[in-house]
Amino acid sequence: MIKGVIFDLDGVLVSTDEMHYQAWKRLADQLGIFGFTRKDNERQRGVSRMASLEIVLEKTDRVYTEEEKVKLAEKKNDYYKELLQKLDDGAVLKGAKETLAKLREMGVLIGVGSVSKNTPMILEKTGLLPYIDKVSCGLDITKSKPDPEVFLVAAKKLGLPAEECLVVEDAAAGIQAAKAAGMKSLAVGPYYEKLGATYQAPGIYAVNDWKEMLG
Ligand code: BG6
Ligand code: MG
Repeated sequence: MIKGVIFDLDGVLVSTDEMHYQAWKRLADQLGIFGFTRKDNERQRGVSRMASLEIVLEKTDRVYTEEEKVKLAEKKNDYYKELLQKLDDGAVLKGAKETLAKLREMGVLIGVGSVSKNTPMILEKTGLLPYIDKVSCGLDITKSKPDPEVFLVAAKKLGLPAEECLVVEDAAAGIQAAKAAGMKSLAVGPYYEKLGATYQAPGIYAVNDWKEMLG
């Protein structure tokens, strides 16, 4: 029996993909890396900030030190946070608030499990915070998805064993992390059919029967 649902944030509850892309693109342009495209950005979905930077740097022969890489990632995050200033509840994905409210009404605990260190700001600016019981994010963990840490921390905060949690994800790394945590998963988003999740739907708006998944 599932007693808690742990939602990934970016691409599941909110639409931030374009802002991540714009911020990485601005950095890439500055570095003289002109081959960075939306296709490369797709691979950054669910991946940590430093791993995402490596996807940008694949496009150049220049070698950066670890220290330089940290500075570059910080710069991208400054650009991203500039864009986040404009974020409001218009960025909340279709059906997200209704689903969170419905699940709570059914007595299900709601968690967020995201590797983003900007999670608190995003939840605050989009008005999602009141719908959520516990947040596990990039600030709570040392290992990013596909490591299960972020979901295990979420389950612990919710006070539930892994097998009583269901993960909702839009990225391959996230579905792998759910599996590694011993949790069932629901894949949503543009690649939902390809992620190997327990359940699939194009978006949370399309899930009619949560009861079936909750067992
Ligand atoms: C994930 C995004 O949720 O968070 C990734 O899908 C991003 O694209 C990662 O790299 C880390 O986010 P942040 O906000 O800490 O740079
Ligand atoms: Mg995601």
